Amino acid sequence: MGCAISGLAAKSELADRSREDAAVEHPNEEQIQMIKDSWKVIRDDIAKVGIIMFVRQKKSLKTHIFFLFLIVLCEFLKYVFNHLVEVMSFIEKSVARLDQPERLEALAVELGKSHYHYNAPPKYYNYVGAEFICAVQPILKEQWTTELEKAWKTMFQFVTALMKQGYQEESARQRQLATSPKDRLDKRNTAL
Ligand code: HEM
Repeated sequence: MGCAISGLAAKSELADRSREDAAVEHPNEEQIQMIKDSWKVIRDDIAKVGIIMFVRQKKSLKTHIFFLFLIVLCEFLKYVFNHLVEVMSFIEKSVARLDQPERLEALAVELGKSHYHYNAPPKYYNYVGAEFICAVQPILKEQWTTELEKAWKTMFQFVTALMKQGYQEESARQRQLATSPKDRLDKRNTAL
């Protein structure tokens, strides 16, 4: 049984399909046999076929590599820009805490700890302050003096030294956590 309308639809679908089929040439029986026979040979050397296809698609590989490069470049620029925004926000917080050194200290030590997890070692921290100083000089024009430069440098040295301290504390903590429970047990027994 079936609905008359759906039956009609099925018939028209079949007609459409046979029209499409007529336009596309199917392999004939002889060709099918040839394909099947050659496939047996190809299958035995399928790895070689893969390598040949890989080497031959140089042009499309170049296009893929180019787009991959653009994606990586965009991600990198996005990261650099976001980091600059974060650095600016941190400088703002630091300036606001200059009268409360203990609060600034806590903030910078925590930042150093988080940078341990970002794999950002202290040897690069000084560049950030130096770049900031270069960038603000043209903005402050004649207001920029040697004393002011010294003041900003002192602040950055203070902050980066604390970041370094935080980084080292976190690094030591992680090393301790990584020590196996057995080692820790052995050490405790030796202490006893
Ligand atoms: C004075 C130096 C620097 C300052 C003030 C600074 C500041 C910051 C701040 C405020 C953040 C936001 C996240 C958080 O609070 O933990 C951050 C994230 C980050 N920083 Fe720095 N940074 C400094 C140097 C560096 C350097 C030299 C590197 C790389 C070598 C680096 C790599 C990163 C990374 C990977 C993140 C995480 C970004 C993310 O998750 O999107 N930072 N930084």
